[in-house]
Amino acid sequence: MSESQGLLRPQEGKNDRRTSRFNPRSVLLTAASLLIVFSLLGCYQIFGTSKPTKKNIIFFVTDGMGPASLSLTRSFRQYRDNLTIDDILELDKYLIGSSRTRSSSSLITDSAAGATAFSCAMKSYNSAIGVDPDSNPCGTVMEALKLEGYATGLVVTTRITDATPAAFSAHTSLRIYEDLIAQHQIGDYPLGRSVDLLIGGGRTHYYSPNDHKYGNKGSRQDDRNLIDEAKNQGWSYVGNRSEFDQLNLGSNVQLPLLALLDDYDIPFDLDRDDEVHPSLEEEALVALNALTEATKDSDKGFFLLVEGSRIDHAGHNNDPAAQVREVLAFDKAFKAVKDFADKSDVETILISTSDHETGGLATARQISPNYPDYIWYPEALLNAKHSGEYLNKKIANYDGKDLKNFIIEEILTKDLGIKDFTDEEVESLISHKANSHYIINNIISLRSQTGWSTHGHSAVDVNIYAYANKRSTMIKLYETLGGNHENIEIGQFIVDYFNLDLDQVTELVKDTQHEPKKSVKSDTQGLNIEEEANDHYHTGAQI
Ligand SMILES: *[C@@H]1O[C@H](CO)[C@@H](O)[C@H](O)[C@H]1NC(C)=O
Ligand SMILES: *[C@@H]1O[C@H](CO)[C@@H](O)[C@H](O)[C@H]1NC(C)=O
Ligand SMILES: [Zn+2]
Repeated sequence: MSESQGLLRPQEGKNDRRTSRFNPRSVLLTAASLLIVFSLLGCYQIFGTSKPTKKNIIFFVTDGMGPASLSLTRSFRQYRDNLTIDDILELDKYLIGSSRTRSSSSLITDSAAGATAFSCAMKSYNSAIGVDPDSNPCGTVMEALKLEGYATGLVVTTRITDATPAAFSAHTSLRIYEDLIAQHQIGDYPLGRSVDLLIGGGRTHYYSPNDHKYGNKGSRQDDRNLIDEAKNQGWSYVGNRSEFDQLNLGSNVQLPLLALLDDYDIPFDLDRDDEVHPSLEEEALVALNALTEATKDSDKGFFLLVEGSRIDHAGHNNDPAAQVREVLAFDKAFKAVKDFADKSDVETILISTSDHETGGLATARQISPNYPDYIWYPEALLNAKHSGEYLNKKIANYDGKDLKNFIIEEILTKDLGIKDFTDEEVESLISHKANSHYIINNIISLRSQTGWSTHGHSAVDVNIYAYANKRSTMIKLYETLGGNHENIEIGQFIVDYFNLDLDQVTELVKDTQHEPKKSVKSDTQGLNIEEEANDHYHTGAQI
């Protein structure tokens, strides 16, 4: 109404001045112009009250990916594929700005506070999952869109109960409460079910250790089987690659869909066996096609989160060989979604950003006291056929007689393609048989001259990428998110773009049980030791 008043006012002013002189001709003119104005107004109102444009949003999170990860990956691919120096990643084409990432409790955020900044458009403390700085549940953009009639989905390569997907679909005061997060995800909280599609790992938090119906690695601390509970409420369940293939890239999906493709994380792309686990691109395509089909007769589109989850884990491990493959797998998924958007006749936007950087990665390393060389060597990453995480397990599981020979022939020579290993390196791997992955990754990082400053996160700004299949929306994205922003402004963009009222959602979720009923806290700062063992990347509640 305010806009239509704005449309009228100048005309009214004109008419007032004309009629004051009372000229019959001008009265006639006035009547005519009023007629035009009212008929214009009529048209305007018909247009104004017509259905709002149908919209889809795909929100991407590259967990732990800072700008150096992209430099590393570009040079790696140029080297591997013999490409020219102007070859860039798909993602590079849509760079519009950068984001500052601090949380309410620290200059260095974790993924929980990082994702809550996007989902609730609010700064909260490290470890907060969809809760405000006082641990009160905050309504998320995904919940708000679900309430508005949008279809919703979460696609990840880590546990589906891990911080990033959790912050959109659950409310817990600590990220380690993954049993509770799983409950919220299947709709066991005041709002009821707010997700239509979940694809990722993390089955372990959906059943308990003595329950072997869906696997042997359950870790729930109660006796609930959330997979059966979900099925009873109408979810379809997919638990392995052959069942995933039957979804036929999304053309054969019955929503709601719960696809838990591993008990823990899906393996790094470098280690992934295509017969066992699908790629992130395949997961994303299943989600896109299923959500498109589900909304084809609706005037509302869908919200989909796609996370390159384990870029972060490669950063924590300081594993450059695994990281470049994670970034490439993400870039492939991003391109598939972008191509999808270009074919869609529904207004579709893609926003991609990171919650933070991990590892303090630098594409440089001084390896001797001499003045450093200005070079790094991507071939060292290409020669590595597996991640440090994978080879660490391979060494730990070796039960033969000649560990030294196994390490030299099998691990260093065959798996890592290294000929110039030192006696110290071999001895170090032998003496750390049960836990060698940092040593393996350092062997690779030294040879590629890749630098790392931490096994944790860093405070460096991360990039913002955006694309829309409609020009005016692309301009809006540039105007709003171009340049340097706080991470919460990205969440706020989603709020504004869909005209959401998050306070209203907060009111609906405020009584959510956000801590386990029986306290599973130990005496070490609220940490549950067993839970912690499931996520060695994020030990410590980091309040
Ligand atoms: C790489 O590309 C260059 C230029 O196109 C070509 O001369 C060279 O033979 C290629 N090398 C390999 C290993 O393919
Ligand atoms: C996949 O899961 C189904 C249902 O549990 C099972 O029948 C089938 O054997 C599994 N396939 C593989 C390859 O594990
Ligand atoms: Zn992390």
